[in-house]
Order: sequence, then C-alpha cells, then structure tokens
Amino acid sequence: MLNAKSQKSRLLFWQRYLRRPLGVGAIVPSGSSLAEAMVKLLAPGVDDIVVEIGPGTGPFTRALLASGVAPSQLILIEFDAEFVLHLRQKFPGVTVVQGDASELPRLLKEQGHDKVPKILSGLPLRSMPEPVRAAITRAMATSLAAQGSLVQFSYFLAPPLTQAEVKACGLTGHRAKTVMANIPPAFVWHYSKSAA
Ligand SMILES: C[S@@+](CC[C@H](N)C(=O)[O-])C[C@H]1O[C@@H](n2cnc3c(N)ncnc32)[C@H](O)[C@@H]1O
Repeated sequence: MLNAKSQKSRLLFWQRYLRRPLGVGAIVPSGSSLAEAMVKLLAPGVDDIVVEIGPGTGPFTRALLASGVAPSQLILIEFDAEFVLHLRQKFPGVTVVQGDASELPRLLKEQGHDKVPKILSGLPLRSMPEPVRAAITRAMATSLAAQGSLVQFSYFLAPPLTQAEVKACGLTGHRAKTVMANIPPAFVWHYSKSAA
C-alpha cells in the first residue's frame, strides 16, 4: 500500500504524462530498486557536484540524498514547471533548475559550474526524436569532466545515448545492470569519459 506522499507523486506523474506523454516517457515514477542501482553505479564522492537530469517527482533524488550526497552538492535539471514546483517543496536545499537538458552547459554555467564529475539521467531518451536525443547526448557529454561518470537508464536493449555523439565526445559506455524489479524492467547504462 502506497503512503500519502507516494500517492501524491504518482498522481502528479500521471497527470504530467497525460499532458506530455513523450516528454515524460513513463506512466509511473521509477521504483526504489532502479533508483538504488543507478546511485550505486554512479558512486558519488562526498565532494562531488552531482547533476540529475529529468528528476520528475524525485525517486533518484531521494536515493542520492540517502546515499550521502549533501543537498548543496546536488543540482536538478527539469523541463516541466509542475515537477519543478514539486521538487522544490520536497527537497529543500537542493538546487532545482527549470530548463532543457540540451542546454546543459549554459544551465550549469549559470550555476557557477563548467564540467561536473557525476551526471545521473532519468530522461526518456529513446522516446525522443533523433536530433533531440543527439543534442542532449552532446550536451551531457560536454558537461562531464574527464574521468567523470554518467549513468542513464533505458527500457530498451539498444544504447540510450547517440553512438556518434558518444564517440565524438570521448565517452565509452556499457549496459551495466538489469533491474527486473522495476515496472517496467529497466537497463542501467554506465558511461565514462576518458582522461583529457
Ligand atoms: C521517464 S521520466 C523520469 C522521472 C524520474 N527520474 C523517474 O525515474 O521517475 C523523464 C523526466 O524527464 C523530464 N524531461 C524530459 N525532457 C526533458 C528535457 N529536455 N530536459 C529536462 N528534463 C526533461 C520529464 O519532464 C520527466 O520528469
């Protein structure tokens, strides 16, 4: 049985899905097994600035904070204004930026950052048109520091990031984990950037 807070998050998620099905890309928020697998793979260090893209109602945000990431080290980038309001209420002290992931380098610069060591993405990349997916892949790769990690999930077997952009930006990636307990089951991909 879901508690009142989880029910509220699910209802909001469903409402936003009805408004923007392709942009939201799922009918329910990710479950805790997927959130924990994503954060474990990201392995944020205590001093790392962590950027989460497409947080929705915040299941990955909650797992990041539970793993020890300080609210002041966490930057969320979310497109949807209703999710942004929800996240600001739910996670005081966390920086929540309303913006488009394809503009990540500019959005981070406005927060005083250039490259960051850890990026966690909940974006529905495989539901996006190819040019949009390529632009977001490029933006995330550009904002990742050398030797940094980017973790992205997908409901599909194919790689979530655009291969050409991955190669051009010096990333390497592999499917690191399958989370059967999530609804639907999900694959977790780990990308890393070679030293400059
Ligand atoms: C599949 S939902 C995942 C939400 C949450 N991470 C989870 O796992 O439950 C995708 C999220 O990405 C956001 N999103 C979609 N396109 C975006 C973009 N271009 N820039 C930033 N956020 C975006 C959606 O609004 C939604 O919150």
